[in-house]
Amino acid sequence: MEQQLSQIKQDAIAAIKAATSLSELSEQRVKYLGKKGSLTAILRGMGKLAPEDRPRVGQLVNDVRKELETSLDDKQAALKANELANRLSTEKIDVTLPGRHHEIGHLHPLTLTLNKIKGIFKSMGYSIAEGPQIETDYFNFEALNLPKDHPARDMQDSFYITEDILMRTQTSPVQARTMQAHDPNSPIRIIAPGRVFRRDDYDATHSPMFTQVEGLCIDKDISFSDLKGTLTSAMRQLFSDDLELRFRPSFFPFTEPSAEVDITCVMCHGKGCRVCKGTGWLEILGSGMVHPHVLEMSGYDPKKVSGFAFGLGVERIAMLSYGIEDLRLFFDNDIRFLKQF
Ligand code: DAH
Repeated sequence: MEQQLSQIKQDAIAAIKAATSLSELSEQRVKYLGKKGSLTAILRGMGKLAPEDRPRVGQLVNDVRKELETSLDDKQAALKANELANRLSTEKIDVTLPGRHHEIGHLHPLTLTLNKIKGIFKSMGYSIAEGPQIETDYFNFEALNLPKDHPARDMQDSFYITEDILMRTQTSPVQARTMQAHDPNSPIRIIAPGRVFRRDDYDATHSPMFTQVEGLCIDKDISFSDLKGTLTSAMRQLFSDDLELRFRPSFFPFTEPSAEVDITCVMCHGKGCRVCKGTGWLEILGSGMVHPHVLEMSGYDPKKVSGFAFGLGVERIAMLSYGIEDLRLFFDNDIRFLKQF
């Protein structure tokens, strides 16, 4: 038995030495030290020995086991180190290769314009309100003084989802929504930016989807001069300090009086050019004093408070700010266009 043991030891040491991979080494570990391994088999066979021989042979088996374990561990460490050295030499990276370039994106010109408009009105104490793009007929039209058969509805043909639900044609419904969510005794100063939808052609100046910013200011003693002052200041901050505004009488069902606002042409500074069709003026927004009936319908008392409202088209302002001639460029997502902002 002792001879058998020394043979096993010799074979095992040789096999461990010869192992060239970690998996081969673990096979050897199982072969000699595992449950069904040859050393274990010897331990099992000890019952057959004379009782006085058992302690000595047991000790011997244990010594061999320890020796094999040590040499397995040593070999394992050597193989691992080898493997690492191999990987380090084969997986070399060339740090002098030029890196991969990640292009940093930037904001869309409409977002830039919108942010500028928001900043201007925020600085005047306005907060931002939002409303749904899918709107009820009530908020989109009726609460704004456009009952079912009002002819002014024709100017804003929409996409109807049902008889009473449509894609909003304007951001004005946020006026009524805000008023109705508000205590009628406290003032309102909000702007409501957002997308609107109309059954329009898609050409250089029209799109079935575009962006508006609505404004609403309600308080005691708000007058038309507040409207003029606010819009003059806002438009001058948006374009230039020497900008002139022209208020032309107009009609909107939800304001009385109503005015369309023109600014001096930002392209020719009023001299007359192709963009302003020779007039020196550009139509830029709609506005007016909130109609008493609109105040009343949303719970405000027109005898106690008054207000003004306005609505402007963001695409138009962005086109004028950046000198863009075709509205469709905003929505085409042509990277050559977008990169310029
Ligand atoms: N909602 C109008 C439109 O889309 C624009 C507008 C005009 C809004 C006058 C207003 C306003 O708040 O007072 O044509």
